[in-house]
Amino acid sequence: MAQYLISYTQKLSGEVMISASKNAVLPILAACMLTDEEVLIRNVPLLSDVENMCRILSLCGAEVKRENRDVRICARHIHTPAEQEILRTMRASVLILGPLLARCGETHLSMPGGCAIGQRPIDLHLKGLQKIGGRILYEGGEIRAEGKLTGGSIYLDFPSVGATENLLMAAVLGKGVTRIENAAKEPEIVDLCQFLNACGARIVGAGTANITIEGVSRLHGTVYTPIPDRIEAGTLACACAVTDGSVLLQGARSDHMRALLFKLQEMGMILQEDEKGLRLRGKARHPIEVRTLSYPGFPTDMQSPMMVAACQVNGLSVFLETIFENRYMHVVELGRMGAQIRVEGQLALIQGGVPLKGARVYATDLRASAALMLAGLCAEGQTLLIDENEHLLRGYECLEAKLCQLGGAVVRTS
Ligand code: UD1
Repeated sequence: MAQYLISYTQKLSGEVMISASKNAVLPILAACMLTDEEVLIRNVPLLSDVENMCRILSLCGAEVKRENRDVRICARHIHTPAEQEILRTMRASVLILGPLLARCGETHLSMPGGCAIGQRPIDLHLKGLQKIGGRILYEGGEIRAEGKLTGGSIYLDFPSVGATENLLMAAVLGKGVTRIENAAKEPEIVDLCQFLNACGARIVGAGTANITIEGVSRLHGTVYTPIPDRIEAGTLACACAVTDGSVLLQGARSDHMRALLFKLQEMGMILQEDEKGLRLRGKARHPIEVRTLSYPGFPTDMQSPMMVAACQVNGLSVFLETIFENRYMHVVELGRMGAQIRVEGQLALIQGGVPLKGARVYATDLRASAALMLAGLCAEGQTLLIDENEHLLRGYECLEAKLCQLGGAVVRTS
C-alpha cells in the first residue's frame, strides 16, 4: 500500500524530464519475443507494470536483464508461461498472445478479467487473429490459440489500441500480407511499428487507419529507445494549470499532445515549444468541453487530470467519456474535497470555481490517482491519498518526486 500527503502548493515551477512512455514500452517488450536475437531497449522507466511485463517474458523463457535504464532481452527459446497467475492481474499481459502464437504456433493463456474502468473485453484481438489464420478457443477465462498465420484482411469494429498491437505482432511473422483497417493511430502504435521495422519487419501505414504488414520469415535484434510518455507530460501540464505554474517538460513531444494542448490553451494557458521540450505557464481560467476519443482525439487517460483543472475555473465544464464505461470513479473522491460534479451516464457536468478542501481520498485506478494528487496540490490544507493497490507506481515514474522537483508539497508516507 502507498499513501501520499499532499499540501496546498501555490505555483509549480522549474524543469522536469519526461520518462519513456509506459504504453509504448509494454508492447515493445512483448514484441521482443518475436526474435531469437538480443534486443536492447533503452531508457526503460521504473514502473511496476514494466517489471511485471519483464517477469512475464522470463516466465515465457526469455532472458531478461535490467542494467539501470537499459533492458536486454534474448528470447532464443520461448514457450507458454508455465505459471500464469501474474497474467490475471495485469491487463497488458494480453499483448503476449500475438508474439507467442507467431513464434510458437500455439499457446494457451489465462486472460485478465475486467478492471475498475470497464470490462475491457478482448473480442477484437481474437476475431482479428482468426481472420489471419489463428484457431482460437476461449473458455473459462483461458484462451487456446494455434495455427500457422497466413495473413488476411481485418476490419476492427473499434480502433482498439491493444488489438491493433496484438495483431501487428502476430502478423509480422505470418506467411502472407495482413491489412488492418480502422486500426488505432496512437503514437504508441507508430512506435511499436518503428521498433518492429528496425528488427526487419515490413509494416507500412502506421499512424493511419490502414496498416499493411508483409510477413517476413524472421526478425533480428536491435537497439531501440521508446517515445516519451505523452500522458505523464499531460498530467504534469495539468498540474501546472491548477497551480498557476511555469514549467518546462523536458523531452515532451507536443506533436503527440495536440488535443490536450489545444484544450489547455482554450483554458488560458500559455504554451511555447523549443528544442528542450514544452514550456507552459499560467492558470486554467475558462471552462471547457471535453469529449474523449481515439487518437488524435482527446485521450481518455487525460480525462481525470483535466477534470481537476475544470474544477478550478468559474463556470460549467462539460465532459463526455466515450472510450471506457466506468471512468468517472475519481468524481466521488473529488466530491469528498468539495468538487461539484454531476455524472449522468457518459456525461459529467463540472461546476467549477468552488474551492477544493483537503480530505482523505482513495485511489481507484491509475489516472484517477494522478488526478487526485493534482487536486491535493490546489486544495486548501492537506490531502491524504490512499493508494491501496499502488496504482500510481504501476504507471507513473516517481510522480510525487517530479512534483516535488517543481516545488509541489507531496510526501510519500508509506
Ligand atoms: C490502451 C492503453 C490505455 C488507454 C487505452 C485507450 C495500454 C497498455 N493501455 O488500453 O492506457 O486508456 O488504450 O486509449 O496501452 N475493446 C473491446 N474489445 C476489444 C478491445 C477493446 O470492446 O477486443 C474496447 C474496450 O473495452 C474499451 C475500448 O475498446 O472500451 C478501448 O480499448 P483499447 O483501445 O483496446 O484500450 P487498451 O489497449 O486496453
